[in-house]
Amino acid sequence: MATTRQNVLITGASSGLGAEMARQLAAKGHDLALCARRTEKLDTIKTGILAADPGRRVEVRALDVNDDDQVFEVFRAFQKDFGTIDRVIINAGLGKGAPIGTGRYDANRETAMTNFVAALAQSEAAMEIFRAQESGHFVMISSMSAFRGMPKTMTTYAATKAGVAHIAEGLRNEMYGKPIKVTVLYPGYIASEMNERVDPNKVKGMVSTEKGVRSMIDAIEKEKDSACVPPLPWAPMSVVMKHAPLGVLKRLM
Ligand SMILES: NC(=O)c1ccc[n+]([C@@H]2O[C@H](COP(=O)([O-])OP(=O)(O)OC[C@H]3O[C@@H](n4cnc5c(N)ncnc54)[C@H](OP(=O)(O)O)[C@@H]3O)[C@@H](O)[C@H]2O)c1
Repeated sequence: MATTRQNVLITGASSGLGAEMARQLAAKGHDLALCARRTEKLDTIKTGILAADPGRRVEVRALDVNDDDQVFEVFRAFQKDFGTIDRVIINAGLGKGAPIGTGRYDANRETAMTNFVAALAQSEAAMEIFRAQESGHFVMISSMSAFRGMPKTMTTYAATKAGVAHIAEGLRNEMYGKPIKVTVLYPGYIASEMNERVDPNKVKGMVSTEKGVRSMIDAIEKEKDSACVPPLPWAPMSVVMKHAPLGVLKRLM
């Protein structure tokens, strides 16, 4: 690969996949710009990374991705800290939701705003930096649920994840042949705060945070266009989810 993508900005880095991506990328020698609302958690992650490797640089900042102005301020401040931001991982997300039409527009709206509108703001802020630098690696964390409209509590969440995948794919289309790369990851079930109340016996294919994130980092470092992570069972499952007749799909899932 032509570049090391030394300085990596991760949103939603205070827990789950974001925190573990920070740890695994630091172990590979990357320096990190980490943000989320819970800065005490970011500080703990920073302390752990520096204890393992005092040579790493880790900067942390408070960010609520639903505050548009703050998204641009924080991304620009990180760019000033490091000189360049070589990779941005748009990861902050929310798993709230209720069946549509059951009186919980508030929960579905919150998910739509955090997972889609705020991801658009993060995309704007990241691409502003990459366009000025004329280089960068844009990484969007979507979800396996993006491959098909999902029922009940998942309907809005899945729609946001399809939406953010399309933002990234649109950027890849625009950047074709140019030095700005775009990756979309479609995680299956990976243990995190988001699904800590889910019974692991009731969901097929749940993996540990460490294992799931290892395959995310593998796809990110290879700068794949897109990847279902972990690849098994999710890459073949994506074809089924996209193309199986609904009656067949409902018997499988
Ligand atoms: N785990 C899975 O199985 C799975 C599967 C598919 C996709 N994903 C996606 O992976 C990403 C990470 O999720 P996770 O599983 O690691 O869940 P998680 O442990 O709940 O982490 C979510 C992260 O997003 C941040 N976040 C949420 N709302 C935010 C806001 N308004 N402003 C800033 N940061 C915010 C949280 O930080 P603060 O609360 O500190 O702000 C936290 O760091 C999400 O986009 C999720 O949709 C996860």
